[in-house]
Amino acid sequence: MGALVMLPSAEEWPALGLGTARMGESPAHAAQELAALRAALDIGYRVIDTAELYGDGGAETLVGRALREAMADGLRREELCIVSKVLPQHAHPAGMLEACERTLARLGLECIDLYLLHWRGPVPLKDTVDGFEILQQRHWIRHWGVSNFDIDDMRDLVAVPGGAACSVNQVWYSLNQRGPELDLLPWMRLYEMPLMAYCPLDEGSLLGHAGLGEMARRKGVSASELALAWLLAQGNVLPIPKASHAAHLRQNWAAQRCTLSPDDKAELERLFPAPRSRVPLMMR
Ligand SMILES: NC(=O)c1ccc[n+]([C@@H]2O[C@H](COP(=O)([O-])OP(=O)(O)OC[C@H]3O[C@@H](n4cnc5c(N)ncnc54)[C@H](OP(=O)(O)O)[C@@H]3O)[C@@H](O)[C@H]2O)c1
Repeated sequence: MGALVMLPSAEEWPALGLGTARMGESPAHAAQELAALRAALDIGYRVIDTAELYGDGGAETLVGRALREAMADGLRREELCIVSKVLPQHAHPAGMLEACERTLARLGLECIDLYLLHWRGPVPLKDTVDGFEILQQRHWIRHWGVSNFDIDDMRDLVAVPGGAACSVNQVWYSLNQRGPELDLLPWMRLYEMPLMAYCPLDEGSLLGHAGLGEMARRKGVSASELALAWLLAQGNVLPIPKASHAAHLRQNWAAQRCTLSPDDKAELERLFPAPRSRVPLMMR
């Protein structure tokens, strides 16, 4: 069993998940992407992050196919933590009912484990929270959360009736993007909300960092293992690296076994110093 994070409800989730951005965009890549999702489930990934945005529903459809196949082979639904996201323009009760129904149909599921507002848009947060509550009453979603919310957005959210029931905030957080550590992450810890770290490998570009590569070679691990192990070591942080190659999936999974000594942490700190003053949240 790898590391776990705890949601505010006290439910524990695996601390490492899988992203699906840019999947389901082209029929030419569908077979390879489906095979990658199946491989991920075989390796042990149980948290799968997707969105109605990705491939205009295509990623959700692929995830649904992979889940159906894996469940036919014995994977139990209860083991899975399926995350999807609603677009801001749909984030009011009527729009969320329609969007969530489409997402459930594409995933082939009766319930999503975690439904996120993809980013803050023009709809008042109160309407979005109402929408999440209606979906929970219908048992279409178990938990809800947000994404790309900076600390002021989070403060606004918890000031809305029902807003403090938010389970997670999914933001860009990596060795190179350490802004959330200054204020957002400590604030979220007070509310016991895990931070889902997207682009944990900076879309792969982090892996070209010479110092990280050199350190990884010395330790006999891959650069991705180091980058993900550092995130996992932050506590209550759930990175969701995307990988569509089995070798990448396995390397990333191995990050759970990669322990960082105090010297390793100090070296990473030198290679990727945290910002000294507040930086606004970066968004992809
Ligand atoms: N909420 C939001 O607004 C938001 C925004 C962006 C992303 N996300 C979520 O976060 C997930 C992760 O972010 P991301 O996909 O943008 O970037 P990422 O996970 O930082 O990087 C993915 C890229 O890194 C490569 N890669 C992965 N593991 C590797 C390894 N071990 N060695 C070498 N290359 C490796 C992948 O290549 P291959 O595919 O070729 O294996 C892919 O090109 C997304 O998929 C999505 O689910 C959410």
